[in-house]
Amino acid sequence: MKRVLMLGPPGSGKGTQGERLARALGVEHISSGELLREAVAAGTPLGREVRDEMAAGRLVPDALVAEAVRPALARRDGYVLDGFPRKLSQTEGVDFDAVVHLDVPEDEVVRRLLARGRADDTEAVIAERLREYADDTLPLLDHYRDVVLDVDGDRDPDEIAAELRERV
Ligand code: AP5
Repeated sequence: MKRVLMLGPPGSGKGTQGERLARALGVEHISSGELLREAVAAGTPLGREVRDEMAAGRLVPDALVAEAVRPALARRDGYVLDGFPRKLSQTEGVDFDAVVHLDVPEDEVVRRLLARGRADDTEAVIAERLREYADDTLPLLDHYRDVVLDVDGDRDPDEIAAELRERV
């Protein structure tokens, strides 16, 4: 059973490709952003704590993300993880067979996110999410350098999915 991390800026296709890759590998796709959005929508204590940080595009505190994600990880041997870890302080005890780095230019991810229009897809919030990515998440590429697969994410989704099925 494989353990894979999807890494890339907001809008690079982590969710889109993560779901397809998980299906191909026969494992679960686990998205930290999705788990946190579900908590917000359900109005749980966790959801109430993270709501404002998420709306502003800031990373939520490590302990709260861990509360959302770790139980899902503990139940499974293999998975495609999307969105966790996304800073060095979240990497403890989380190892991967492959880390997929989806490389997409900034103007293209901004175009995609504005077209999608999720609650945190406004110009100001996207700028903050891109800043968090550059400051906190990019260092993970060096941390996991032995298993990183660089993938051009600025292509047709089917082409990207085919490459991932071959390389992961
Ligand atoms: P999260 O949900 O992880 O958001 P994100 O990283 O900003 O990523 P997105 O979901 O916006 O984009 P994606 O890369 O998955 O692309 P997608 O496939 O959707 O996190 C949200 C928030 O939660 C964070 O800001 C933070 O507050 C909090 N959070 C989450 N994890 C955390 C953590 N570990 N620590 C702290 N805080 C955390 O595609 C985007 C769009 O592009 C779609 O419309 C799609 O159809 C389109 N698209 C996809 N691929 C292509 C393609 N090849 N060509 C054209 N269009 C495409």
